[in-house]
Amino acid sequence: MLHQAGEYILPTKKCKGTVGWRSPSNIALIKYWGKRPPQLPMNPSVSFTLQNAFTETVITYQYDPKFEDLEMNYSFEGNQHNAFSGRIQNYLDGLISYLPIIDKLKLKITSKNSFPHSAGIASSASAFSSLALCLLDIEKAIHGITAHEDLILQNASFLARLGSGSACRSVYGGFVLWGHTPDVANSSDEYAVDLSTQVHPTFKDLLDVILIVDNREKSVPSSAGHKLMEDNPYSEIRFEQAKKNTSKLLAVLKEGDINEFISIVEFEALSLHAMMLTSFPGYFLMHPGSLEIIKRIRSYRNSTRLPVGFTLDAGPNIHLLFPRQYQQEVDEFIQSDLIGFCKDRRYISDIIGNGPERIYHG
Ligand code: DP6
Repeated sequence: MLHQAGEYILPTKKCKGTVGWRSPSNIALIKYWGKRPPQLPMNPSVSFTLQNAFTETVITYQYDPKFEDLEMNYSFEGNQHNAFSGRIQNYLDGLISYLPIIDKLKLKITSKNSFPHSAGIASSASAFSSLALCLLDIEKAIHGITAHEDLILQNASFLARLGSGSACRSVYGGFVLWGHTPDVANSSDEYAVDLSTQVHPTFKDLLDVILIVDNREKSVPSSAGHKLMEDNPYSEIRFEQAKKNTSKLLAVLKEGDINEFISIVEFEALSLHAMMLTSFPGYFLMHPGSLEIIKRIRSYRNSTRLPVGFTLDAGPNIHLLFPRQYQQEVDEFIQSDLIGFCKDRRYISDIIGNGPERIYHG
């Protein structure tokens, strides 16, 4: 299990094997935007885990207490020279105090995504959660001990967070909370918790259609956006607002009020983008097409009274959220009114997922 401060004795027996996990991405409803060391959020966030957008990571490992340093080879979809490799190397180096076996390992890490990397879907959440789950399987094999599943997931969430904040929410399926809030007893800034017992059936069947307005890499990465929050004159107000919205959303999730859900989720999405506009230097990631889609969703909702809402990540693409029972009407709306604003008429349909799955253990 994760090493706590104090004496640690490395296992003396050499060991090797292969582990693998498939882990999905997630979409935030309450946004994590602004952080403090070590990778702790300035406010709680709430997400749901997706089903179809996932990363599969397989690691072949060799452990020998005589190895001097971590050796790692990372390839993404067969490409050895991926820029992500340096980020993974730094991540692993930073885990030594929690997983002291790390520098006694040789690792061959291969990773692939279910979604094309030009889809504009953030992959760091699914990548780091699958990696963290693999590392805990390796740790377990080397130590020969098993822990309770809840503790394994909590540890995986803790480790995933250190790679990418939003990744800590991807180790659970359904609705997930990351960050301390007085509303949820076991909530923590260090790891995410599963909210599934606190969600009304109304929300279990939500669909998420991701309208791809632009599939290029965004001009300002999230890590830079978080950093700009340090000097944003509205940051304190934003963190307080997000805390209040978390409490409101948690209550709404229990009660099942879909209209109130949409109103909070849209408010959060627009507030996230307002923080980009009011950073210094200010920037915007929405495109004219994103704004047009938002206007059309709101006017469609006003005229049909159907519970259709939107959210956005730190990018131009729109996540259209609605209950499955309205799928046919909303599909028609997408085809007639929205698809013209999607790059190459592309969109990706997803649902609320059950969380990560082990795909290899041997
Ligand atoms: C807008 O988790 O990508 O998607 O911790 O620096 O890796 P790092 O940032 P990241 O930020 C996610 C920002 C967001 C909101 C969210 O997912 O909560």
